Amino acid sequence: MRNFICLGIETSCDETAASIVKNGRSILSNIVLSQVDLHKAYGGIVPEIACRAHIETILPVIDQCLRRAKLRLNQLDAIAISYTPGLIGALLVGLSAAKALSFILDKPLIGINHIEAHLYAVYLNYRKVNYPAIGLVASGGHTSIYLVKSPMKYQRLGATIDDAAGEAFDKVAQILGLGYPGGPAIEKKARQGNPVRIRFPRSYLPARLDRSGRSDYSYDFSFSGIKTAVLYYTKGQNASKRSPLKKDISIPDVAAGFQEAVIDTLVEKIMLAASHKRVKSIIIGGGVTCNQRLRTKLRHRIKNTGLKLYLPRRHLCTDNAAMIAGLAYEKWKAKRFDSLLLDAQPTLRVS
Ligand code: KG4
Ligand code: ZN
Repeated sequence: MRNFICLGIETSCDETAASIVKNGRSILSNIVLSQVDLHKAYGGIVPEIACRAHIETILPVIDQCLRRAKLRLNQLDAIAISYTPGLIGALLVGLSAAKALSFILDKPLIGINHIEAHLYAVYLNYRKVNYPAIGLVASGGHTSIYLVKSPMKYQRLGATIDDAAGEAFDKVAQILGLGYPGGPAIEKKARQGNPVRIRFPRSYLPARLDRSGRSDYSYDFSFSGIKTAVLYYTKGQNASKRSPLKKDISIPDVAAGFQEAVIDTLVEKIMLAASHKRVKSIIIGGGVTCNQRLRTKLRHRIKNTGLKLYLPRRHLCTDNAAMIAGLAYEKWKAKRFDSLLLDAQPTLRVS
């Protein structure tokens, strides 16, 4: 089969990203322009600012991506675009650029589900994945667990019923005055703390009843309670986010205790799903899966289980376009292309 050179574009949230990937595996260039400095002052992403910034940066980012790969536009075989889920205005900027390129170059447009792409990122550093697998996507906007049967075939087992794991990291960092994004800031602070000195609650949601009335394990998550627990612990009952921290608080211990609680919940649910669904491996993706403590704990937990753990490189866990151009290869092989009528979908359609 001849080579497939794909340009991927990703603008679903606060990164403007473009990447060129050959045959779904080898990254020829990978440009990620983070808007983090624009959003820092607000302690979170401001959608309107994100959209405007994407408009300004999308063309220079694509340009730089082509230059790095030493390729011209007419050498591309397809344009892949992350079209769901995400901030509607942000998605539309990338989608419009992708449609324009597809139309002008007369090359196929391939719409990619951002969450599926996070689960694909492992292929950018592993040759083969043993299926079936349990997949965890944990980021600032999503925390879901999947039964993955192939790169394009998966079933959602559960998801957060309130905050995403990354959102909890971001909100707790704000309470502790550690800045934005919260995940890396908390991870850094937690290294100086003791993870068992303060035990924050782990919320393991109870079993659900399925349609036939049988009880099924819950693979759902809930992270909003722990954020309130941290708020009350550090600032007192009835405190607001802006209240001052109590004087005798050890921020490293709070960061370490909080991180431990979130990670324990993620790891326990992954292991529960892996054993009930009798899978061969575990795949993770999304910004939170950069977390070294999570990676170490998972490595430790799978010892002697026979499970294989696939960890994408950290820069491929956070939002990037290499995972978009990579997954497009699978769609291209299956001849699953999209028309110029492809629309941005801010919320995920659960498959
Ligand atoms: O996947 P991503 O780049 O964007 C979204 O799709 O949301 O994930 C960003 C999220 C943020 O909430 C950030 O705080 C979190 O991932 N994050 C981390 C770490 N690095 C990023 N959370 C925990 N530990 C980290 N090292
Ligand atoms: Zn993401």
